[in-house]
Amino acid sequence: MKSTIRDIALAPLGQRKIDWVVPRMQVLNMVRKEFEEQLPFAGKKVVICLHLEAKTAYLAHVIRAGGAEVTVVASNPLSTQDDVVAALVQQGIGAHAWYNATEEEFNQHLQLALDTEPDFIIDDGGDLVSTIHTTRPELLQRIKGGAEETTTGVLRLHSMVRDGVLKFPMIAVNDAQCKYLFDNRYGTGQSVWDGIMRTTNLVVAGKTSVIAGYGWCGKGVALRAKGLGARVIICEINPIKANEALMDGFEVMPMAEAAKFGDFFITVTGNTDIINKEHFVLMKSGAIMCNAGHFDVEVNVAQLKEIAVSERIARNNITEYTLAGGQMLYLLAEGRLVNLAAGDGHPAEVMDMTFALQALSLQYVALNYDKLSAKVYQVNTEIDEKVAMLKLQSLGLSIDKLTETQIGYLASWSSEEG
Ligand SMILES: NC(=O)c1ccc[n+]([C@@H]2O[C@H](COP(=O)([O-])OP(=O)(O)OC[C@H]3O[C@@H](n4cnc5c(N)ncnc54)[C@H](O)[C@@H]3O)[C@@H](O)[C@H]2O)c1
Repeated sequence: MKSTIRDIALAPLGQRKIDWVVPRMQVLNMVRKEFEEQLPFAGKKVVICLHLEAKTAYLAHVIRAGGAEVTVVASNPLSTQDDVVAALVQQGIGAHAWYNATEEEFNQHLQLALDTEPDFIIDDGGDLVSTIHTTRPELLQRIKGGAEETTTGVLRLHSMVRDGVLKFPMIAVNDAQCKYLFDNRYGTGQSVWDGIMRTTNLVVAGKTSVIAGYGWCGKGVALRAKGLGARVIICEINPIKANEALMDGFEVMPMAEAAKFGDFFITVTGNTDIINKEHFVLMKSGAIMCNAGHFDVEVNVAQLKEIAVSERIARNNITEYTLAGGQMLYLLAEGRLVNLAAGDGHPAEVMDMTFALQALSLQYVALNYDKLSAKVYQVNTEIDEKVAMLKLQSLGLSIDKLTETQIGYLASWSSEEG
């Protein structure tokens, strides 16, 4: 199988990373066993567009265990780990990706992956689906459907449905409870701080963290900031989320006010232009900014460059910008997802659940595509609950079951019953 990667000699290093996560992804191990017996993707081709690190590599192996010919491609140029990609290629999985690909290379890689003519796809953020619809119309009939990983991608799919352009069914894996409750909240919460701390090697306790966006990811980032001893300020545009942040014990204010206080700024809104010129000039010298939202549009890097009098690399993955007033501001990982571009992403145990949802959702598409239409589907409750039960099982835990009396009680409505 043809691949476009940096260096196959890195494979042993990548294999070591994959070997570390496999025993820690027990739900996916159970799904793999089922797939090996049932071969739901026998004779089919799958393109997986995700952050190319060890956990994704294992998902690729699980989908292959279900009988598919698998090709992987990056969903973000800065999160690709060249050694992991090399290990995949050595194991017979196709790959078109390398770390720090230019925009042109990134798009070429997507095209090369699509040249395999997939039957099913997994996407993260919507770039693959968008590329297929805008540049590869000949594949629209062939592709039977797929699954989308993240909030931003699901939003883009809904926009495609609104505009009447989506041509195959997509499952919104992000919207499953076993995804956002654990991956977005606890996964992002932990891995964002891991990325910030390993990159800066600075203390968090006693400092002020400004978090823009109090959605599922923002809640996790704020919770962990509090646990690390930081003062936490939340910026929101949704009054309900703002009240929720207040009741969770955080301060709430607009970015124009918070800009003055922050030592750390973390954007995680899925929206654009969250921190701009008017905020940079208010910041304390030494302030550190990063983004955890899907695209690198939340910190306005173009405006930061515009008002900076100088710019230099201060440390690996940290750019220092000096403003005319003399204050120095720092941006991590060029404003791309800090936990993936300057870290290894979510913990393996969290991605275990997310990728089990991905694998089972793709199986659902493979078994039911003739009954599905070109819409965005929610993950079946049975799949969501199956992943939760398998997770408990993998932890050696069990839970209570409803008795017949309880089922009857919950279903009753008359005050005379029971
Ligand atoms: N870094 C990661 O590993 C990771 C993991 C999962 C999701 N994501 C991405 O993170 C982003 C957020 O995901 P989520 O699941 O938390 O979404 P969400 O919809 O639950 O939350 C987003 C929040 O941002 C708020 N918001 C929107 N515009 C804002 C603005 N201008 N100022 C302040 N707040 C604003 C919204 O009101 C909402 O509460 C998405 O881009 C998603 O794809 C990243």
